[in-house]
Formats: sequence, C-alpha cells, structure tokens
Amino acid sequence: MIVPMSEADISGAERAAVDEVLQTPTLSIGPRLAAFEERLAATVGSRHAIGVSSGTAALHLCMIAAGVGEGDLVLTTPFSFVASANCILYVHARPVFVDVDPETLTIDVRHLARTVQLLERMGRPLRAILPVHVFGQAADMDPILDLAHRHGLAVIEDACEAIGAEYKGRPVGALGDAGVFGFYPNKQITTGEGGAIVTNDDGWDALFRSLRNQGRDVFDGWLTHTRLGYNYRLDELSAALGAVQLQRLDEILAKRARVAEWYRVRLAEVAEVTLPAVACWTTRMSWFVHVIRLASAEQRSHVIAELERRGVPARPYFPPIHLQPFYQARFGFRPGQFPVAEAAGETCLALPFFSAMREEQVDTVCRTLREVLVKAPRGATRTLHASASLSEAAPL
Ligand SMILES: Cc1ncc(COP(=O)(O)O)c(C=O)c1O
Repeated sequence: MIVPMSEADISGAERAAVDEVLQTPTLSIGPRLAAFEERLAATVGSRHAIGVSSGTAALHLCMIAAGVGEGDLVLTTPFSFVASANCILYVHARPVFVDVDPETLTIDVRHLARTVQLLERMGRPLRAILPVHVFGQAADMDPILDLAHRHGLAVIEDACEAIGAEYKGRPVGALGDAGVFGFYPNKQITTGEGGAIVTNDDGWDALFRSLRNQGRDVFDGWLTHTRLGYNYRLDELSAALGAVQLQRLDEILAKRARVAEWYRVRLAEVAEVTLPAVACWTTRMSWFVHVIRLASAEQRSHVIAELERRGVPARPYFPPIHLQPFYQARFGFRPGQFPVAEAAGETCLALPFFSAMREEQVDTVCRTLREVLVKAPRGATRTLHASASLSEAAPL
C-alpha cells in the first residue's frame, strides 16, 4: 500500500512516558491510571472518569449500571460498530434499532420518539437509549435527553469515535448518565487497547471502579468480592500513553481537521462523491475517519478493488448491525427494515485518514479515486431518504 489506512500519532513524549513506567515496579493499579482519569474528566467536563480495558468493556459496565437486564429493551442505532449493540446482549437484554438521519448518520430523533411511544403503549420494558456519536459527529442530544427524562430512561453515550467532539458547545460523553470512549489504535488518540467511562454520578463512579476490578469495593480486601465483577482494568503503560495523548488532543484534532479540509477541497467538485456532512449542532467535529458516499454498492465495490490494486486502501463503513449474520439468525432481522442505515452501509467508503497524513498523500488518494471513478459502473443509485414510516418492521 502506498498510503496506510490509519496510523497512530505517537511522539517522543508518549515513548518517554511509557518507558518511565517500565522503570517502576507498578505496571497496573497505580498513579498513572489516576492521572489519566483526572485528565480525561477535565477534558470532557465530567465529575468522574474511569479507565477500563476497552470501549466494549466500558459499554458493558454502563449497561449494568443502568440496571439493564434480562428481557429489557435498549434503543440504539444499527449504523455503528457491532459493540454498540453487543453490550446489550451481554446483559441478556435486547436492542431495538432506530434508523439514522440521512444527513448525519446519527440516530433519527423523530423515529426515536415514535418508537418510545409505541413501546410504552405496548407496555414493553424499555430501559435506556444508547446514541452513538458516529465518525466523530455528535448525535442530536437535546431531544434524546428530553425524551429520556420524560420517560425515565437512562442515556448511555457511545462516544468511542468522538473524543473531543462538541454538541452545541458541550463536550460529548458527559451529556447523558454516562458516556464511553475507546482508545484502539485507529482512534483519534490511543492507549493500545483501552477505553474509559465518564459520568457525573458518584454512585455509578464507585460501581464502575468495583466492576472493573473483579467486584471489589474500595473497602474490600484483595480477595473479598462484593459483587460479580470483571477484569476490565486499564494497565499503567496504557494509562501513561493515554495521558500524553490526551494532553495532545487539541493538536491531534486540529491536524485531523486539516486533513479533512484537504479532502473536502479536492473532492467537492467530484460529482460521484458525497462528502461527509457536519451537523449544525456539532460545534466541534472530532474527525475519526473520513467517510464519503458513492452512488451505489456496485460503484463502491469497483472503487475499493481498483483503489486496492493501485495501492490505496479503502473500507466499506459500516455494514449495519442488524444485518450482521448472527443478528439476522438470532432476531430474524432482514434487509429493508432500516433503509437509511442500509443504504449508507452499501455506499459509504472510508478513505485513508490519520493525523500525520500529508497533503501529497491526500492528493494521491484523491487523484487515484478520480481515476478509478471514471471507469466505475454507476449501478442503481441508492439515495438516503429518511424512511417515510416508522421502522415498524423492527421485530419487537
Ligand atoms: C462506535 C464504537 N463503539 C464501540 C467500540 C468498541 O471499542 P473497543 O474496540 O475499544 O472495544 C468501537 C470501536 O471500534 C466503536 O467504534
């Protein structure tokens, strides 16, 4: 490949911080984790931040804290990484998908409101809403929070792809009852593997600290376990790396915004390409990936294959969760139920994107993309119109 798909932005400061930890005897449960958590809470404006081993682990613990259990329903979007819905299955509850807005690809708040009303009328045990700030774009949180408040539902923000993003001037993550971040190496900032939860709730903070540490409470001895817990701890090396990455967050997000702008300028006039939209409420975008939309699935497959042949990687983003093989097998989901997410899933294409990407590399990608588009079959156009009716096809 002549350009990588993504690349972590690691400077000498991160290397030095990790090396420093290696000079100490404390590789887990130590001062670096506390420092990382303090910095994250300050960045997001939350009372608490709790480091954990992954974004998925963070989501799992939030389901437990929200009291989601056997047979309960949680509303979320099908247009996300599979972990956003898997966490609901971990607690034996059931995801109810709500289609996304065609512009922003975040959960459609009108459909969401109608689905809540419908489920309430049916007397179904609805517990929580799990919006996803997809690709670094904020979901429309005010109507979601208002709806949750009126119906007594918890709100867990999946902000794994959106550290530093702002919704109407407020950082995402701390807007709901809890929010989660992921720090896998393709993310804006990384800890290797790792994740975190932020919350303003003191009780949830204590619960998360116990759950991530095998169910030990603060006052428990090492081999005393107050509740069923997990080993979801974040080690000191990861925390030290994360603390420096957090310190550099503004710099990293600015570099990513610059790369996104280079793409915008080069692709704005390319008729076959729809550029990513930034919602009016996303006052600060935290560019995670750079995802364009093409006209059809046929066009996209041709483009991916031809780009690959010329040394430029590109990925289809996202195949919707309800159409993942085991979701179809387990719940009977089928194509056609969430038309916007499905059309996006068939036509969205992530181009190489990382903070150290150089303007010449963006040039190369855009030039190659224009070349391969000339010969690409247009296929049957998939437009992203909001579905006229409520996603009534969702099996409940
Ligand atoms: C939206 C979303 N949620 C959850 C996750 C899970 O995070 P992790 O890979 O750290 O478990 C990811 C990571 O890719 C993600 O993009």
